[in-house]
Parts: sequence; C-alpha cells; structure tokens
Amino acid sequence: MTTIADALASARKSPATANHSRVDSERLLAHVLGVTRGALYAHPERPLGDREISEFQGLLQRRGEGEPVAYLLGNAGFMDFQLAVDPCVLIPRPETELLVELALESAPEDKNGPLQVADIGTGSGAIAIALARAKPDWLIHAVDLSPQALALARRNARELGARNISFREASWCEGLADSAYDMIVANPPYVAVGDPALHPDCAFEPDMALFAGADGLSAIRQITIQVRRCLKAGGLLLLEHGHDQREPVAGLLSAAGYRNIKHYRDHAGHDRIICASQSSPAQRRPELKLRRQRRIQARTALSEPTLNEGRRFNSGNTTSPSPGLPPKSPLNEGRRFNSGNTMYGRSQMVWREGRSTKAGGSTPATRDATACADSCGKVAQRRPEVQLRQHHRLLDLEARHRVRSTKAGGSTPATLVISKNSAQPRNSGLESTLLQNDENQIRPIRQ
Ligand SMILES: C[S@@+](CC[C@H](N)C(=O)[O-])C[C@H]1O[C@@H](n2cnc3c(N)ncnc32)[C@H](O)[C@@H]1O
Repeated sequence: MTTIADALASARKSPATANHSRVDSERLLAHVLGVTRGALYAHPERPLGDREISEFQGLLQRRGEGEPVAYLLGNAGFMDFQLAVDPCVLIPRPETELLVELALESAPEDKNGPLQVADIGTGSGAIAIALARAKPDWLIHAVDLSPQALALARRNARELGARNISFREASWCEGLADSAYDMIVANPPYVAVGDPALHPDCAFEPDMALFAGADGLSAIRQITIQVRRCLKAGGLLLLEHGHDQREPVAGLLSAAGYRNIKHYRDHAGHDRIICASQSSPAQRRPELKLRRQRRIQARTALSEPTLNEGRRFNSGNTTSPSPGLPPKSPLNEGRRFNSGNTMYGRSQMVWREGRSTKAGGSTPATRDATACADSCGKVAQRRPEVQLRQHHRLLDLEARHRVRSTKAGGSTPATLVISKNSAQPRNSGLESTLLQNDENQIRPIRQ
C-alpha cells in the first residue's frame, strides 16, 4: 500500500524531479487527488489507488521534462483567482500582478462616464479580468492576435463573471478607436530571440507570447507608436518589460512623445513596469500651442482700452461709433472711417492692418495697433483745447484723402497714413502732432 507520505517521499528521490521543487510535486499530487496541498499534510497516511499513483507518476515525468506545473494542472493563480491556461497562452506571472495594481492605482479620474481601458496582448485574459473584477464599471477591451488565446480568455472571463470586457482579435491597437482610451496596459512579448538566459520551462510557452525580435523590443516599439493614436490626452500607458530594458523602453516612450515617464520595480528589485502619459494635442504639436498663445495675446491686445481712447477724443462727435471691438465687416470699417471719425478710423485701420497681418501669423502688428491708438488718445487728451479745431481740420483732410484713395483703388490703412508723405500740410493739427510724436508707431503700419 502506498500512502500520500510514501508518494511524496519517492517523488523527492526521483531523478525526474531532481530540478524541481517539493511544492511542485505536492501540487501535482493534490491535483490528482482533488484536494488542497494542506490536505496532504493533514492526512499523510491516506492510501492511494493504482490509477492515482500512475497519474501522479505521469505528471512527475512531464514535469521532469520541463513542462510547467500550470500547464500540467491546466490552471494558474493570478491575483485572487484561478485562470485556465494551456500551451496557447503565457502563464501569468507575479510581476504582472504589479502591473494590475499600478493600473488600478494610477487610473485617471472617472470624469465623463466609465473609464475606457484596453489590455493589448491579453493572452489568458489575466490583466483584463483582474481589472474588470476590481472595477466592474470600467469598459475593458481585450485584444490578442492569437484566436486560441482569445478563446481561452473569453472562457476565463465568463467563468470568473467578468462581464465588462469585450474581446477583439487584432494586432495591438489595430481597430481601436482614435483618442478613445483613458488607459492602455500591456504585458507584451519582450524576450530577444535566442536569449540564452531564458528559463527552459519557457520552451513550452507560445513563441508569440515571448519573443520580440533580435533585441526583444520589436513589440514595444510598435506599441509605443500605436498607442499614441488611441489614448485620450492625459491617458496612461502601462507596460511590463524585461528586467534590463528600463533605458531602451524609456527612450522609445520619450522619442514617441510620451510624458511623465515613471519606473516601477518588481518584488525582486528589477525595473519591470513603465508608466507614461499621453501628451495633450498642444504638447504633441507645439505649433498649436504657439498659435493658441498668439490668439490669446491678440485678444488681450484688442480688448485693451484702445478704442475707448479714440472715443474720448471723439466724444463730441455724433457720428462716433460705439466703443468696443472693431467691426468685423470690412464694409463697416470703411463706412465708419468715412463717417468722419478720424481717430477711431485710424485705430480701426491699424487694427485691420494688425488683423490682416495676424492672419499671416504675426502678433506684433496687433500690438502696434494698440500702441498707436493709445498714443492717438493720449495726444488728444494732452491738447483738449484744440480738439474740436483739429477734428474739423482732419475731417477736411480726410475728405480730400477719401477722394484720392478711392481713385487710387480704395481706402486702405496705408492710404490714410500716406498723408504724411502727401502734399497735405504736415503741420496741420493733430496729424502733425502724431507724425512728430509718434512716428515710430505710424511707420510700421505703412510697411
Ligand atoms: C507576454 S504575453 C502576455 C499575456 C497576458 N497579458 C499576461 O500578462 O499574462 C503577450 C501576448 O501578446 C500576444 N501578442 C503577440 N503579438 C501580438 C500582436 N501583434 N497583437 C496582439 N497581441 C499579440 C500574444 O499572443 C500573447 O498572448
């Protein structure tokens, strides 16, 4: 009669199990008997039947040949649950539990509806299922290129009651929507082909789950690029990588434009997980940021009291336009200019010049507009006693210019300022003052 204690003692002496742990033998025997490992210690005297002995010996033999215990048992523990595994999928590793924990900790706030998360290269579904169980309100998209892996992942999800996962057979981010994901996680293949350090047990695992080109980085290279398209601004990418790949992986992420790159160590003290965030559109395309800054500057410049200054000068002028932003329509601009509101008209013209220059991408012209209008208003304030007289003179002057500029092909900002070079008396009223005092502001407008 062979008891549990006898079977385990002979397994320890067997050359087939020489390279494997006592725990492996105990797990295999517990599996054959349909009990826990604890039960083996509780009832070492329990006799084994012939079928149990031969089944146990068969498993020991296969284990001796290097087949992983998880494949022999058909399941593997991950986090707080058991997953069915077979040689079509990688056996989930403890390091990957760290990836799950980090994903749960660093997930962005759930602001607008459920978080959208993708697990690319899901294999047995380990990561996706762990996240789905911990966060039933998240929407998880599990992707794998292997149909066999996906079939097993689906089965695992069903058996573990993880309903918030959808599965897709595809290569990495293929078919995933643009800018749709708050977080993308992956434990991709990262072993260099021919790596001599690879554990012999890995020979039983699928090549496509392990190997990633000559340097072990080909999958991560693809992922870092593809994920950028799919993450929302500020979204996170969490990747597991090889213990010696910290620098090259960080380099790939940084070159692809990710920000806030952080490293995390596994329980053995190796850098194993990397986390990075998607930059905002402006960070990705600095020219957008520059354009936005220019828009803000231009708006600020235009909302300064430029036009009010002009209005103050024209306070007695019944045709003075309302203060506020310059009119949008070029027709209106012309009408207002021709209405006799010269100061306002000048501001308007300068503003229009600024605007048209701005359309070509330059803010300085807008600043000139503000500077010039400011100076016009200040001149008017400095000489209030001549305001009315100047105003009438300018009306007259402007009327003559209008005739001339209309003939010359229309009224333009340059046409008004041309009065400096025209045959008009240079010392007449306000214009003269402007030309003397504010030549610098006027000159650029004519260029
Ligand atoms: C290291 S395994 C990880 C499995 C599982 N996520 C885990 O952590 O246990 C890598 C997985 O990526 C899958 N894979 C390999 N190339 C792929 C590709 N181009 N697109 C999608 N999945 C791929 C493999 O089939 C495998 O399931």
